[in-house]
Amino acid sequence: MQHLSQSPTEPAFVQDPYPLYARARAMGPLVWWEEYGMPAAFDHATVDALLRDRRFGREVPPEQAEAPPAHLAAFHAVEAHSMLELEPPRHTRLRGLVLRAFTSRRIAAMAPEIEALCHALIDRFPDGPFDLLPAYAQQVPVIVIARLLGVPDSMADQLLSWSNAMVAMYQARRDRLIEDTAARAAAEFAAFLRDYVEERRARPADDLITHLIAAEEEGEKLSTDELIATCILLLNAGHEATVHTLGNGVKTLLEERTDPAALVPERIEGTVEEILRFDPPLHLFTRYAYEPVELAGHRFERGAQVALMLAAANRDPAVWHSPERFDPARPPRANLAFGAGLHFCVGAPLARLELRIALGLLFDRCPGLRLAERPHYADLYHFHGLERLMVSRR
Ligand code: HEM
Repeated sequence: MQHLSQSPTEPAFVQDPYPLYARARAMGPLVWWEEYGMPAAFDHATVDALLRDRRFGREVPPEQAEAPPAHLAAFHAVEAHSMLELEPPRHTRLRGLVLRAFTSRRIAAMAPEIEALCHALIDRFPDGPFDLLPAYAQQVPVIVIARLLGVPDSMADQLLSWSNAMVAMYQARRDRLIEDTAARAAAEFAAFLRDYVEERRARPADDLITHLIAAEEEGEKLSTDELIATCILLLNAGHEATVHTLGNGVKTLLEERTDPAALVPERIEGTVEEILRFDPPLHLFTRYAYEPVELAGHRFERGAQVALMLAAANRDPAVWHSPERFDPARPPRANLAFGAGLHFCVGAPLARLELRIALGLLFDRCPGLRLAERPHYADLYHFHGLERLMVSRR
């Protein structure tokens, strides 16, 4: 296996990681990434196969699990019940309950509400240059997921702040301040939801929290801690990635001077898939081996980790013709922006619906939209999202 060295916080890499991905992909199915201390897969076939391989998973093998340091107890109390950090049988049970409450009918029924929300936000755009992230890209996903769960819109800013603090734990540049802030956010978020669940228990409504409470009350199915962790996961996962897909998508569409015809209702689906393929917001996920596995001449022992490079797989020339080119008219092929296998994104149908509506309406209502300054990615790797997106309506 060849080795590569690349700091995940080096500014040039954060701004454009794709040249490194292309070089690494050419080095073979597995490349040892010095800074992460583990092999990484960059091509589509290997990443896809590993995501689906049941000999690998996200849950820390029990013999490797360590008690979290005291200052992170509140954060880990939530993580310990998050389906994203679990494997079957607990994962199957939690995911099944969420899917039961999160039906395609329920999601499709959100469309008129998402449209109205986008219109209202666009109505408030100023005349001069403004940052599209707080004015639009953050608002749409956070308000939509809050409403689905049944949390009032007025909580949106607070949810954003808790979520940003917690999600910061997954970046390469994590430090003690980030850890303390995340633990405080987790404790406050869980306390808020504990009260909120009690309120909903007393006054049920037609929302996801009420449906999950029903699952809890049916007996052994969902504990209160699991219910809280699931709500936090849905609120966090439910907007962070969508915010950055919207931001990265608008940046690409404007930089590439994309023909507005690509955003009409008949073509928006293909354009959204190309945005997700071309510049997705989540670049790296890891898996643990649960048994000895031989792969591409490398032997994984139980407990060894591997990095799966979703955004690199999405630009594999073995799957896409001229993958470095943004082409909304490409014939659709499943890309890996939402992952694959057991942990495939639960929110993919909702995210796609939000992206289609939010991008379609934005360009329809603001045909003169242009970049007011060169966009700059935030130092958040392995997330890939903009620091701000200054635009002007005309
Ligand atoms: C464009 C937006 C989004 C992207 C790119 C995205 C991407 C992903 C990816 C790659 C995974 C799998 C991680 C892994 O395999 O290790 C995942 C899982 C997940 N996502 Fe999303 N996501 C998006 C939006 C959403 C939304 C809107 C929701 C909620 C409503 C959501 C909820 C979840 C949950 C709960 C999981 C965990 C699933 C499991 O462990 O079985 N995501 N997402």
